[in-house]
Amino acid sequence: MKNEILKYLFIGMILCIALLTLNCGGGRKEATVEPDPMDDKGIGPVSSVEFGSKIDMDLAKKGEELYGQMCTACHRQDQDFIGPTPKGIMERRSPEWIMNMILNPEEMVQKNKIAKDLLIKYNGAPMANQDLTEEQARAVLEYFRTL
Ligand code: HEC
Repeated sequence: MKNEILKYLFIGMILCIALLTLNCGGGRKEATVEPDPMDDKGIGPVSSVEFGSKIDMDLAKKGEELYGQMCTACHRQDQDFIGPTPKGIMERRSPEWIMNMILNPEEMVQKNKIAKDLLIKYNGAPMANQDLTEEQARAVLEYFRTL
C-alpha cells in the first residue's frame, strides 16, 4: 500500500517536471521572435529607396551640408547627444525608415514602435521636423552611407 502511494507521487512529480520544462522551452522560443528592425519601413511618404552600388559623393556632399545646417544642434557624428548618433545607422535601420523619420517624425514617434521606444530612451526629447523636401532627405541619407 505504502509503495503504491510512493509510485503515484513519483509519477506525479515526473509529470510536473515535464510540464515545467515544456513551458520554459515555449517561453524561450517566443522571446527570440523579435521583429527585425531592418524590415521596418516606418510610416510616411517613402516606401522604397534605391541605392547605387557606389556611394554618390556629390549627393552625399549636399547631404552633409544640409546635415551641418539642420541637424547638428541635436546630432553628433561620433556620439549620442540630444538624439542618437547617425554613425552605424545604415546597419540598424532600413533606408525607408530613416527617410520617414526625417520627413514625418511626429507621426513616427506616435505610431512606430522603434521611434516610440527612441522617444522614451531620449527622455521625451522629440525628433524635430526640419521641413526637408524628400530630395533633401535623400541627400542626407546618402551622407549617412559615408559614416
Ligand atoms: C531638436 C533636436 C533635433 C534636431 C534638430 C534633429 N533631430 Fe533627429 N532626433 C532627435 C531626437 C531627440 C531623436 C531620438 C528621439 C526621438 O525620436 O524622438 C532623433 C532621432 C533621429 C533619427 C533616428 C535615429 C536612430 O538611431 O534611429 C534620425 C535618422 C534623425 N533623428 C535624423 C535627423 C536629421 C537628418 C536631422 C536634420 C535634418 C535631425 N534629425 C534633426 C532630435 C533632433
